[in-house]
Amino acid sequence: MCGIVGYVGKRSASEVIIKGLHRLEYRGYDSAGIATLNDELNVVKVKGKVGVLGELVRKKKVKGNPGIGHTRWATHGEPNDINAHPHTGAFRRFALVHNGIIENYDVLRQDLEKKGHKFEGDTDTEVLAHLIEEIHELSDIDFFQAVQQALLQVEGTYGIAIIHKYHPDQIIAARKGAPLLIGIGDNEHFVASDASPIIEYTQKVVYLEDEEMAVITSSGYEVSTLKNVPLTKEVHELAMNLEQIEKGGFPHFMLKEISEQSDTIADCMRGRLIVGENRIQLGGLDGVLDRLINARRVIIAACGTSWHAGLVGEYLFEYLAHIPVEVEYASEFRYHEQLIDERDVLIVISQSGETADTLAALRKAKKRGAMVLGICNVVGSTIARETDAGVFTHAGPEIGVASTKAFTAQVTVLTMMALLMGRENGMISDDRMQELTRELNEIPKKVKDILKDTSHIQEIASLFTYAPNFLYLGRSYNFPVALEGALKLKEISYIHAEGYPAAEMKHGPIALIDEHMPVVVIAATDHTNDKMISNVEEVKARKGRIIAISSNGQSKVARLAEFNINIPEVHDCLTPLVAVIPLQLLSYFIAVNRKCNVDQPRNLAKSVTVE
Ligand code: G6P
Repeated sequence: MCGIVGYVGKRSASEVIIKGLHRLEYRGYDSAGIATLNDELNVVKVKGKVGVLGELVRKKKVKGNPGIGHTRWATHGEPNDINAHPHTGAFRRFALVHNGIIENYDVLRQDLEKKGHKFEGDTDTEVLAHLIEEIHELSDIDFFQAVQQALLQVEGTYGIAIIHKYHPDQIIAARKGAPLLIGIGDNEHFVASDASPIIEYTQKVVYLEDEEMAVITSSGYEVSTLKNVPLTKEVHELAMNLEQIEKGGFPHFMLKEISEQSDTIADCMRGRLIVGENRIQLGGLDGVLDRLINARRVIIAACGTSWHAGLVGEYLFEYLAHIPVEVEYASEFRYHEQLIDERDVLIVISQSGETADTLAALRKAKKRGAMVLGICNVVGSTIARETDAGVFTHAGPEIGVASTKAFTAQVTVLTMMALLMGRENGMISDDRMQELTRELNEIPKKVKDILKDTSHIQEIASLFTYAPNFLYLGRSYNFPVALEGALKLKEISYIHAEGYPAAEMKHGPIALIDEHMPVVVIAATDHTNDKMISNVEEVKARKGRIIAISSNGQSKVARLAEFNINIPEVHDCLTPLVAVIPLQLLSYFIAVNRKCNVDQPRNLAKSVTVE
């Protein structure tokens, strides 16, 4: 989704911004732009890649300071040069970049058009720029107040950064619903939609909250509410470093992140899984565990891959702790939200901690008195800050748009939560706990074993690179893994793929199976194994091309399948953590073979900050 970076200080603003925009590319975008100030307001913007923008900026020798930059992911108006940000208004005295959606832009635009404003493009942001201009030109208030008044008139969400020709050494920033932070340097300051573009310059940040504005100069910053109440903000230390957001010798972030999973799962369990003492310790849930265990209902809400992790969580909570769970798409949760009250607990899962629908679900549940817990990766993110309590996944920054290590870390957290709850409410005996904690502790090593030699998966990938469709089947814990495998393939290789609970295949998808259809069967759970064998037979009888993911013990499935990818044997409830790895790799290799943009797939955004 759109990205913002702004700089004021002694460095070349255009260099800091172009580099920053490259770091923001992972969020997904279709155009990019920059504005800097010297005597003039310089604006350069293009449809397409930051690399092209960088070339233009160099060619045009764009100088000046301060500066703001933007990567745009189109919502209103097609991706083209005109709709790209920054927007300037008619008089070109200021430049504005914006993340989010101005929902009442149409009414505002009609009103401004009646007053004589002419619009070049179709974006809601251009309307905001004209609105600010209109207010400023027609009154004797200063520019900051004009921005403030304009923002009070808009409905929707925004994270904005503005520079003005007559206010050199200054960036105005404001936030409502779209994340924005201020980076604090030594006689230099930054503004950004996330920490990735500023991490190489500073670790100190201030997070803006909704309806807060800031004036940022090279020597400092001042934050106030939209209604002008000055605020003193807490300075946070970032929990990431530059190395974590660079590729480290891998051709793609996605492969780097897949390969990191034995470490990230171990990091996620560190200090929390205490095998010697046969227990789990999750400091983030201290004081809320009773309420969680005794909740009338536990609901998990999330989007995309995080929703798949939530589905695995449902099996884990129900089987291990006997706690019934409902899993909702965060975007659908709003239709059920009126049934929630203080007796319920909502668990939101989000890698970025900024997904708009997940945040909306959180806020709605909170408003109705429910306790809201979070499972987030990004420390300091809005969701992490607004939940009552929660557990961080500690997977490190995930840059590839297709989520991989965040998924396994989320499932690891959910497993630990299920074990903790199951112990607490007496559903897991000492012996069982010992067996499960030992096995969980072994997972990083088993993941490493899968990653050691991926040549077999590469061979299978090359055979099916041009398949137009894929079917993924799984049962029980691995039904969500089938969904996740299909999603990974769709996201990065643009092959149509569907995930199904294996038995449901008979109620529709079986009609699609012929000798051209690759069917990936995740046959790694013991207690459903017999039934899975029958499903595999059904596919085989229709000449489907079976790619099995099975653990060493399950030779029957391996024999029936045309291809078998072995995964180490683990306890049923832990299979998602190992079974998903070959599926991530399969989609990665297929996407590379198809020459797709693996890290930045078309139309997708890493962090979806609009509802
Ligand atoms: C986008 C990303 C997915 C991610 C989903 C939820 O669609 O492309 O990879 O799973 O958002 O994001 P979250 O940050 O809330 O986990």
